[in-house]
Amino acid sequence: MLDVAHNRPALPPEIARRRTFAIISHPDAGKTTLTEKFLLYGGAIQMAGQVRAKGEARRTRSDFMQMEKDRGISVSASAMSFDFGPYRFNLVDTPGHSDFSEDTYRTLTAVDAAIMVIDGAKGVESQTRKLFEVCRMRDLPILTFCNKMDREARDTFEIIDEIQELLAIHVTPASWPIGMGRDFLGCYDLVHDRLELMDRADRNKVAESIEIDGLDDPRLAEHVPQHLLEKLREEVEMARELLPTLDAEEVAAGMMTPIWFGSAINSFGVKELMKGIAEYGPEPQPQSAEPRQIAPEEKNVTGFVFKVQANMDAKHRDRVAFVRMASGHFKRGMKLMHVRTKKPMAISNPVMFLASDRELAEEAWAGDIIGIPNHGQLRIGDTLTEGEALRVTGIPSFAPELLQGVRAGDPMKAKHLEKALMQFAEEGAAKVFKPDIGSGFIVGVVGALQFEVLASRIELEYGLPVRFEASQFKSARWVTGPKAEMDRFISANKQHIAHDNDGDVVYLTRLQWDIDRAERDYPELTLSATKEMH
Ligand code: G4P
Repeated sequence: MLDVAHNRPALPPEIARRRTFAIISHPDAGKTTLTEKFLLYGGAIQMAGQVRAKGEARRTRSDFMQMEKDRGISVSASAMSFDFGPYRFNLVDTPGHSDFSEDTYRTLTAVDAAIMVIDGAKGVESQTRKLFEVCRMRDLPILTFCNKMDREARDTFEIIDEIQELLAIHVTPASWPIGMGRDFLGCYDLVHDRLELMDRADRNKVAESIEIDGLDDPRLAEHVPQHLLEKLREEVEMARELLPTLDAEEVAAGMMTPIWFGSAINSFGVKELMKGIAEYGPEPQPQSAEPRQIAPEEKNVTGFVFKVQANMDAKHRDRVAFVRMASGHFKRGMKLMHVRTKKPMAISNPVMFLASDRELAEEAWAGDIIGIPNHGQLRIGDTLTEGEALRVTGIPSFAPELLQGVRAGDPMKAKHLEKALMQFAEEGAAKVFKPDIGSGFIVGVVGALQFEVLASRIELEYGLPVRFEASQFKSARWVTGPKAEMDRFISANKQHIAHDNDGDVVYLTRLQWDIDRAERDYPELTLSATKEMH
């Protein structure tokens, strides 16, 4: 049995045992398979294959999930909780498609660590790299899982070198693969000096593990053929000489990543990775906020919204706000203050996504993720407290990379369109800008697919056919500065000025030159490509 490892002595045991993390990977590296195996080991499901199958069954069971099915976007998997030994794991899902990267960025503000899954044959791919950069901005601890070792993979040193070079992070092997492809036997556990053998016959069985006394133990030869054993000894010796040794502090600071090798589909290496999450996870961390930081062990409950999913039920137009608990012990029915509006909110039907089902959350501790159904009061970046005026910081909104004009198919429905657009803006699904001159809206997104998703959602959820059309603008910047300078800027650039859904001033640009010129001519103004959500 594992002991709960943590280094914040003040943490109540219920908080100290929580590990809240996300998986970052390039599509196809094995995120879904690994998630499924986590649930299998966590005892949340009995058989592999249930995550997908179960999702289907559940969707047909409730309206809530029917919407989701229609939209083809998975909500049920937004956050999953399961136990692993004495630990409670909260796995927060990151949308897979690169067009939803902004959503992913915000999801990563709700976790304390990330698991980076790479394909042993492909190494570090583009999406992994992008997501890694986001983790780096937050100094998130990263644990690496090199998957698909049962296929022809790259040389182990080569993979490690690639991660070190491309991502500028120290890599320390927690395990070392023995053979690869058809010859892949398992791994040598470098942390515990153990041999872990893969069972190819049963993909859902826990790997066999053999305690040995280091690499000179004669029992090794009983399990590993001579040529692989020689190679293993040689490589491990080299690795120990050339690569840094595991340093928990460096891992916690996001400067070093331990790497495990395995094969998710064969359930191999997964348990070791889970133990690694338990050990290096880390426990729930303090949350940056204004005017002061929030420590998880504080008695008072605080939480913040990092994601909003709207129109889960067509009939009720309600939304679910996903809240990361930042401190305290929350109990169902509690009244919390919605800091932005200074209004109390009774949280009477929060949900938690235990892997086996969506359940009412009777309680939640710092580190947990709860879903709060609401009618639009809760927006991304909002903070909930027991009364103190705290505002969680660091939840960004990014300047869109693609802009298009949008019109309702029926001009009489312009008001309806405005309502729909505002809602998507609040959900964080798009940026909506209302130009100061002329009518209509400019919608900004990070990836082209979002326009399609928006058009189909507006039609489905509001019965409004819409047309997106090319815009002369290519990008946008939020503008702030002293009032007189702002006024001067706005009156000189009327054709380019818009307001976003919060009423903040936005400068719509055609070329980088526009931005350079504005920065040169208005040195007192700040043109920003990101904005804090609040
Ligand atoms: P993703 O969520 O990161 O996109 O990846 P996913 O788990 O869906 O895995 C992508 C493909 O890789 C799947 O194959 C999956 O079965 C396979 N895979 C995952 N882990 C391993 C592994 O350890 N070894 C091998 N050899 N393959 C692995 P698929 O053909 O796309 O889907 P399916 O028909 O298997 O469901």
